[in-house]
Formats: sequence, C-alpha cells, structure tokens
Amino acid sequence: MKKILVTGAFGQIGSELVPALQKEFGTENIVCLGHRNIPADFKGILEKTGIDEIGKIEEIVNKYQIGTIYHLVSILSAKGEKDPQLTWEVNMGGLKNILDLAVKHGLKIFWPSSIAAFGPTTPRKMTPQKTILEPTTMYGVTKAAGELLCQYYFLKFGVDVRSVRYPGIISWKTEPGGGTTDYAVAIFYEALKTGKYQCFVKEETSLPMMYMDDAVRATLAIMAADSEKLTVRTSYNLAAISFSAGELALEIKKHLPLEVTYQPDERQKIADSWPESIDDSLARKDWGWLPEYDLARMTQEMIKQLRENKKLLA
Ligand code: SER
Repeated sequence: MKKILVTGAFGQIGSELVPALQKEFGTENIVCLGHRNIPADFKGILEKTGIDEIGKIEEIVNKYQIGTIYHLVSILSAKGEKDPQLTWEVNMGGLKNILDLAVKHGLKIFWPSSIAAFGPTTPRKMTPQKTILEPTTMYGVTKAAGELLCQYYFLKFGVDVRSVRYPGIISWKTEPGGGTTDYAVAIFYEALKTGKYQCFVKEETSLPMMYMDDAVRATLAIMAADSEKLTVRTSYNLAAISFSAGELALEIKKHLPLEVTYQPDERQKIADSWPESIDDSLARKDWGWLPEYDLARMTQEMIKQLRENKKLLA
C-alpha cells in the first residue's frame, strides 16, 4: 500500500492518531514528521523536517511513496496571539505547501479545522454548518482561510482533501500546548498533582469539547468515507459534549478532592468568541459520525489513564 505521512506527529492529536494509524495500517506504513517532543520510546518511521521545507517534504513523499498526508502541524489559538506573523506562516504556509504537493503527487489530505474558525458574530448555540465565519484570532483566521483553500484545491485541482472542525480536545498523553480549551486538560493534571486548579476562564464559560478517542475515530471515519458521500469540502462541524468549566470541576469532584479558583486572563476573550455548542448533523448524515464519550465517561477515563501513567504527572 501507499504510505501515510503525518505532520505534527508528536502534537496533541498526532500523539494519539499515529498509534491508531499504525494499528490500522501497520507501523511500517506510517511516516512521522516532527522535530520537537519526540518521545524516547517512539517506535516507527521518523523524519525530522520543518513544515516550511517543502523540498525536503517532497523528497520524503518520493522516498516512501506517500499516498496520504494527515497535515496536523499548527500553532494554536492562545500561542498564536503571541506571534500572529509566525502563526500565519506556519499554519497557512504549511497548508499551502501540503496542498501543492497533493496536486503534484495526487495525494489525499486530511487537515483539521476548528471551532476557532467561528467568531463573535456566529450564532453561539447549535452553530450550523453553514454560518458566519468572522474569527478574531490569527489561529481562527488561518482556519477559516484554510478551509476555503482546501475547498479551492478540491474544486480547481480535484485534490481529495477532507476536514473536520474539531472542538476542544481532551486527552491525557500530552500536556496542553497553547490552546484556549487547554484548561479542560490542565484541570485533570492539577487535580491529580495538587488538588488545586486556577482556571483561566470563568466558571460559566461553556465550550464544545470532545474526548480524544472520539476525535481519532472521527478522523479515521471521514478518511475512510466514500468520496461521493462527502458534501462538504471546506470542513465538517463535529461535536460531542458541551460543558462549562464549573460543570467539569463538579464532575471531577465526584472522583477527587479539587479546589478550583477562577482567574480569567486574555484567553477568556477568545473563549467568548467561540460557540457553546455545535450542530454536526451533516457529519452524522454524510459519513455516519456518532460520538461515544459523554462528560461522565470522559472524566472517568481521563482520571484512570493519568493514574495509570503517573510519570506524566511528574
Ligand atoms: N483547541 C484549540 C485551541 O484552543 C481550538 O481548536 O486553540
């Protein structure tokens, strides 16, 4: 089979998507591109190259006979506001490079968009698939523009590019990395480490979220779907659970002692500009999407995994 290349293979999503791809297609068929946070016990094919080095990525595509790229490299929302220039270059420049390679080599592409593509003028509850996209973060600007670029390459060049708008993703394998929804991960780490957490959004702030296992299943499902079934080539709305920071704290307290204080910072404004809940009926209809984790199950699983993997809490 043609091999699969994963960029950003050691980020939050890559760290869990790569093992799932290795399991499904064989470790020998998955090529991982990364340059930071490479775990010492990583098993698989590794190439170290930056996303701006299109020549080197093309060499990798040729060397391994790549047929599909999961292009996950991205600077997230909160970190993006610290260096908007770099965020544009990495997020848009990287995507454009990958799409150009897709045209030249007939590649199939997965690229993640996000709830960050929405903005303060978007309807906040049960946000529809087709709606106003006026994001106010650079990360969101690159997601909205990236969605249009993907659709353009599909329409103009026939690139089979597929995308979902991930909600905030909750996972235990990697520590939070510069996103606004990261409080929903950090709270678990701190609950287990110290029993205290200072939350950077307000107690009542509610955002769409998803447990990583659901996110990985969604990614594999959209990539496995028949091309003709896909009616969206910008990016599909994707949803699982929505809860406020306070509701999450209460759920964790059912298992552990936890004291939460709320000290909103600049990330509050970003959170306020995103939807509270998402209408993902088209993803359900077109490629059979159905989430499995609710708040209770996700909380149980996070605590169990972090307890079993204590070194992550060191
Ligand atoms: N989790 C991302 C962030 O908070 C949203 O896509 O930046």
